[in-house]
Amino acid sequence: MKEILPPPPPILRNDVAAVQALFQNVVPSYGRFDIVLSHGSGSYVFDLTGKRYLDLGGGIAVNALGHAHPAVTEALLEQSRRLVHCSNFYYHESQGRLARALVQLIGPGKCFFSNSGVEANEGLFKLARKFGHQEGRFEIITTINSFHGRTLAGIAATGQEKIKKGFEPMTAGFRQVPYNDLAAMASAISPATVAIMIEGIQGEGGVTPATPDYLSGLRRLCDEKKLLLFMDGVQCGHFRTGRFQSFQRILENVSANNGTLCEDNFLPDGISMAKSLGGGFPIGAFWVRAPYADLLSAGTHGTTFGGSPLACTVALKILDVIQREKLADNARIVGDFLKTSLQNLAEKYPSVICRVRGLGLMVGIELTANIANLPGETSKTQAVRFANLLHAAGLLSIPAGTQILRLLPPLNLSQSEAEEGLRIFETVVAPVAT
Ligand SMILES: Cc1ncc(COP(=O)(O)O)c(C=O)c1O
Repeated sequence: MKEILPPPPPILRNDVAAVQALFQNVVPSYGRFDIVLSHGSGSYVFDLTGKRYLDLGGGIAVNALGHAHPAVTEALLEQSRRLVHCSNFYYHESQGRLARALVQLIGPGKCFFSNSGVEANEGLFKLARKFGHQEGRFEIITTINSFHGRTLAGIAATGQEKIKKGFEPMTAGFRQVPYNDLAAMASAISPATVAIMIEGIQGEGGVTPATPDYLSGLRRLCDEKKLLLFMDGVQCGHFRTGRFQSFQRILENVSANNGTLCEDNFLPDGISMAKSLGGGFPIGAFWVRAPYADLLSAGTHGTTFGGSPLACTVALKILDVIQREKLADNARIVGDFLKTSLQNLAEKYPSVICRVRGLGLMVGIELTANIANLPGETSKTQAVRFANLLHAAGLLSIPAGTQILRLLPPLNLSQSEAEEGLRIFETVVAPVAT
């Protein structure tokens, strides 16, 4: 194992209660688990008491290279000695190089850099409004169970009532239809519609991949109706599925009726990115396809910190390591192994696990409704109670909705770490099975 970072300042060392008390000063908008983390190394993270966890949550699909990766530390240190920030009034090399690298990975177009996923989506929403402005088109159709972020436009785009509740009235111009239902999308289009946005794999909604027919059908629909097709790749993108974007993995080797490959005929008009792009350093981005790449002209969109030298240098380093170490292949191989093994566990323990789905290192484990022996407060969802049991056993995962646990580990998770995770998982599943 790699060397562990220096311990935190002595005043707080091992004092879980002291750290938690400091959170009296933090807005309580997050439901937090009873764990105080201290430091990490690779796929492992340690709490203040020294307990070690195998981190299969990956900071919700963020820690692409795990914790304290030496290449990232090095890039941060080196760049911070040169130029941390400069305004977007000026050019600098790493923003240009990162844009070029992303364009090479996707296709002809341009990139805009933000600081988060929701901001990347906001940029695409504004782009769509600009595109439809002269014709008075502004409406963007998204899908039920989607998640697109927490700003006012983000929650209006998101297809989950619990996210919108209490923040009404919603920003105008967003409507949701069922996911993977092309007919519903087609019939929802109105003269005001300008764009469609979907996740290639719904993440917060429970790890549900789009079908190849749905993706190809949406592309045709958008072409016919002159709509922009946006893919929110914030969670499912950046090689997590074994390809750069999830739609590439979903359409891989699928033939269209005319004998051509679906993947060759499919390119969205915009893709939002964040999370693994910076591996933990905040950065978001959107890519926009060439015909629309100059719609947001000088002065129409911006953000102070977007595409800073430090953020872009780290993102470039992460890309470099992913490509050099062939981590897309690793995500596919180790992810598919995890999924198959979990499916075997679902067959062995049908009273606990009812379904396993996902692609690569984005795996969703759906728990059976009303698991009789599940310990924990019944006021908490089954997903949270199950996650608590996994924590006690030394494994971090991410709940989604009431019944689903997500695994979104580092892209360099090893086969033996995956096996360790499965062993821990079974030690938790077996005692609650009936
Ligand atoms: C698909 C998707 N879009 C957008 C977002 C929002 O990203 P951020 O939290 O960086 O604003 C998320 C966050 O989980 C996400 O999963």
